[in-house]
Amino acid sequence: MKLSIGIEMKSIEYGTDEYEVSIDIRNEAFRKPWGLDIRDEDLSGDKNMEMYGGYLDGKMIATVFLAEDDKDTARIKSVAILEDYRKLGLGKHLMDFIEDIARQRGYTKSNLMGRVSVEGFYHKLGYKTLSAPFDYQTIPHVEMTKDL
Ligand SMILES: CC(C)(COP(=O)(O)OP(=O)(O)OC[C@H]1O[C@@H](n2cnc3c(N)ncnc32)[C@H](O)[C@@H]1OP(=O)(O)O)[C@@H](O)C(=O)NCCC(=O)NCCS
Repeated sequence: MKLSIGIEMKSIEYGTDEYEVSIDIRNEAFRKPWGLDIRDEDLSGDKNMEMYGGYLDGKMIATVFLAEDDKDTARIKSVAILEDYRKLGLGKHLMDFIEDIARQRGYTKSNLMGRVSVEGFYHKLGYKTLSAPFDYQTIPHVEMTKDL
């Protein structure tokens, strides 16, 4: 069932309590199911990203980050929604939101590293697959791109 639930997007500052919640969400989506802990990794690169949290009823349930590949090309990272809130249209909402921000910053292209398991999600949003699958943190990924 597709619900049109209102998600509020808010900027996250590095090092704050909200930033810690964003780490928890990424840990749940990207590491814990594989027995890994994202806090074992060097996350200092987060300082250089624009970070956003998606909130429902005041609770952060999703993350999406914007970084830069080159002056024309954004890189979208950390697209994650807590499991209970998936398949409701929020993933598309997060991507529309961050692509709008990227356009506002003057980027004409966005790249991302997508898990092969969600490649179809990104294809629906207009991303093309650029690479053969490769392993990152033991999970198969592909490099993807879209003209904004
Ligand atoms: C990937 C993720 C962000 C998708 O968010 P979501 O809210 O479930 O997706 P949506 O409901 O907005 O789906 C949008 C469309 O993509 C489709 N879709 C969603 N997940 C998909 C998947 N894994 N494979 C193929 N299509 C998918 C939906 O069916 C929907 O299609 P429709 O428009 O024809 O109805 C979410 O599943 C998630 O956080 N997963 C765990 C973390 C992750 O893998 N992130 C991506 C890392 S690269």
